[in-house]
Amino acid sequence: MAIVELKNVAKRYASQQGSSGSNAVDNFNLVTRDGEFVVLVGPSGCGKSTTMRMIAGLERNTEGEILIGGRDVSQVPPKERDIAMVFQSYALYPHMSVADNMGFSLKLKKRPAAEIKAKIEEAAQTLGIEPLLDRKPRELSGGQRQRVALGRAIVRDPQVFLMDEPLSNLDAKLRVDMRAEIVKLHKRLKVTTFYVTHDQVEAMTMGERIVVMKDGRIQQIDTPINLYEFPANRFVAGFIGNPSMNFLRAKHAEGVVSGDGYRLALDDAHRSSMASRGAADVWVGIRPEHLRLGDATDTNRIEGKVEVVETLGAVTMVQLSVGEHFVSAQLPGHRKVEIDDTLTLACDSDKLHLFDTDSELAIGRESASQPSTAVEA
Ligand SMILES: Nc1ncnc2c1ncn2[C@@H]1O[C@H](COP(=O)(O)OP(=O)(O)O)[C@@H](O)[C@H]1O
Ligand SMILES: [Mg+2]
Repeated sequence: MAIVELKNVAKRYASQQGSSGSNAVDNFNLVTRDGEFVVLVGPSGCGKSTTMRMIAGLERNTEGEILIGGRDVSQVPPKERDIAMVFQSYALYPHMSVADNMGFSLKLKKRPAAEIKAKIEEAAQTLGIEPLLDRKPRELSGGQRQRVALGRAIVRDPQVFLMDEPLSNLDAKLRVDMRAEIVKLHKRLKVTTFYVTHDQVEAMTMGERIVVMKDGRIQQIDTPINLYEFPANRFVAGFIGNPSMNFLRAKHAEGVVSGDGYRLALDDAHRSSMASRGAADVWVGIRPEHLRLGDATDTNRIEGKVEVVETLGAVTMVQLSVGEHFVSAQLPGHRKVEIDDTLTLACDSDKLHLFDTDSELAIGRESASQPSTAVEA
């Protein structure tokens, strides 16, 4: 176990040298807790793997410092960093048995045979793959192979686990099972873990803290619930949450934000932070699950024409055209809504999010429990 520290870490690939393009990773700052499970999430190409590879020592950081257990590892080669990686591709040796695959790194380290055997057995038991130890990788399913890859990492007793999209090759059902298993494994082993995914649901369900990245830059570091309730900017607001948050371009006047087809009153916190801005344009964000069927008596109203209705059983998804905007609503249960109906939706003021139209930073409500990092999206 170890605290991992990244201080002003940046990466510029040789091919990016001299080009006007930005860094693959820029100004990355993070200090983990000992034994923490940190998830890096963001769209493809945002710098997640590059960050992992720098921690692993497979890439040199162009700027900044990386410390593992207080030790600056800049000059330390990967195999001496005391980390174990699990990738999307399992990279098992096809000609070796499961047991030999798992024990290979210990054999290279010339550990005694009895110790290697004991470690393999313990890891196999933890992962429920004891009956598979004599098989070859080709005799295993995808999920079993991924367990072997995890086992190979576990037997090394590393200070840090690095897992880069380890479940991406598995089908949806198995992925859900395996993510629960990895969380359980972490609770048991308590090894500091960096876990990369592009899937925000995976991030939300697994991370103790989540680092949201975009274009090589950290957008916000926070707990899952704080990311959901207090997104620091419009990008995070739209990325976290499924279905995605709706955004309406609104005019503000005296504590009310409105536009073609909607009128929403602000709560006290938003009212006071908008007071100094006066008659400004602002982005209003509303999550689909915070909308409900309303009528003309509701103070907060969104009215539009029904374009799409999806009946999913537990919920009914409705899409409305509201002036120039599309608004999605997730209504509980089975609702009788017809295409081309005019529908009124209502929403509580304390569920509204506001974002500056230039910087796209959140206005007025901040995550109280934790300092969060926010940059302009
Ligand atoms: N070896 C490389 N040489 C040059 N550019 C690279 C290399 N690896 C990644 N990149 C670039 O760096 C950026 C971040 O990539 P990566 O870290 O792989 O993103 P992610 O894992 O989030 O999808 C991308 O723009 C990618 O094209
Ligand atoms: Mg990647």
